[in-house]
Amino acid sequence: MVCPEEAEKSVPRRPGPAQKSEERKRMSYFENVRRQAEELKNREHVRILALETSCDETAAAVVEDGRRILSNVVFSQIDLHELYGGVVPEIASRAHMEACDRVIDQALREAGMTLEETDALAVTKGPGLVGALLTGVNCMKGIAFATGKPLVGVNHIEGHVSANYLSHPDLEPPFLCLVVSGGHSHLVEVTEYGCYRLLGQTADDAAGEAFDKAARVLGLPYPGGPRMDVLAEEGNPEAFELPRPKTAGKYDYSFSGLKTAFINTVHRLEQRGEPLPKADLAASFRRAVCRELMEKAEAVIRDRQREAGGRTALRFAMAGGVSANRELRRTAEEMCRRRQVKLYMPEIPLCTDNGAMIGSAAYYRLLRGETADLSMNAEPALRLI
Ligand code: KG4
Ligand code: ZN
Repeated sequence: MVCPEEAEKSVPRRPGPAQKSEERKRMSYFENVRRQAEELKNREHVRILALETSCDETAAAVVEDGRRILSNVVFSQIDLHELYGGVVPEIASRAHMEACDRVIDQALREAGMTLEETDALAVTKGPGLVGALLTGVNCMKGIAFATGKPLVGVNHIEGHVSANYLSHPDLEPPFLCLVVSGGHSHLVEVTEYGCYRLLGQTADDAAGEAFDKAARVLGLPYPGGPRMDVLAEEGNPEAFELPRPKTAGKYDYSFSGLKTAFINTVHRLEQRGEPLPKADLAASFRRAVCRELMEKAEAVIRDRQREAGGRTALRFAMAGGVSANRELRRTAEEMCRRRQVKLYMPEIPLCTDNGAMIGSAAYYRLLRGETADLSMNAEPALRLI
């Protein structure tokens, strides 16, 4: 049986005059921006105003030609969430609502531009917290409709990958990329701008998530990952032996077993009433995670080099919040030197969430004519591949 409300919803209604006029407005916006997007392909410079609100940073930036940062403003909500030990979605959405206008104004001011002088707009449409994403998407849809400028909806993870285009003007696809953030641990091949081939992924926790959970067990405040990293610098990475994860696929990851082993180690020490050697624990955990991340990345590289009989100039990039990790960066440098592979990493401030990476990703989508219409929605579970 279908309840009356549902039945009513399913009967297609004839559009009334108001709806028709709304539809016409939407159509003309879309047709107009498609024309503009075509023209922008021949423009000497394209400046994009980008907004990122997928989690706990309200960030806006102006990026020129996908490569040059004219401004990059990040308003972090850490202070608001620290009290709760993690991101509270409702608080995040409200804080984005309050900060969006201010952060956008500041990004335009620092770029020395007016809104009218920008060529296009970009916003993160997913993945992320639905309420947080919706505030950004609706804010930019409003600006797009009011100004008639093209709007590009960007995948947040593609944004992280694109941070490398900002830090390395010479980097062009194809390249291999390790994407390590709070929700992702992926090994991908970027075959061309905006095109990805999945090589490996985590079966359970993401690397950032594992760092955050381990940090919590040590009593470190949110956000745990960067704090574990700082603490680990003081510790002995050989102090505690943690297991090597077992995975189904050759290039896949798994961090939940490692996390459980870490928690058990901490509990055993606590039960014995011993003071926790926090720095040694943090260093041992960081060593285990970085070793796992880099071993699989190296396995891909080794296999590619073997297939090509050594005659291949591979490029390896890292992206996402965890790529800011000091030991991961050192391990990647060492591995790439040994394998004679060119390494690309975003500068530290571009590893974590920011608006500039969204502006860079949007540029290459815009060149392909991929503009959004005003029905664009937030997609909290949007995938890269
Ligand atoms: O990419 P990101 O800023 O947001 C997501 O898209 O998830 O990544 C955030 C994640 C968090 O789990 C955070 O703890 C971790 O990246 N992270 C780090 C470091 N900096 C950020 N983990 C380890 N070491 C760091 N230095
Ligand atoms: Zn992110």
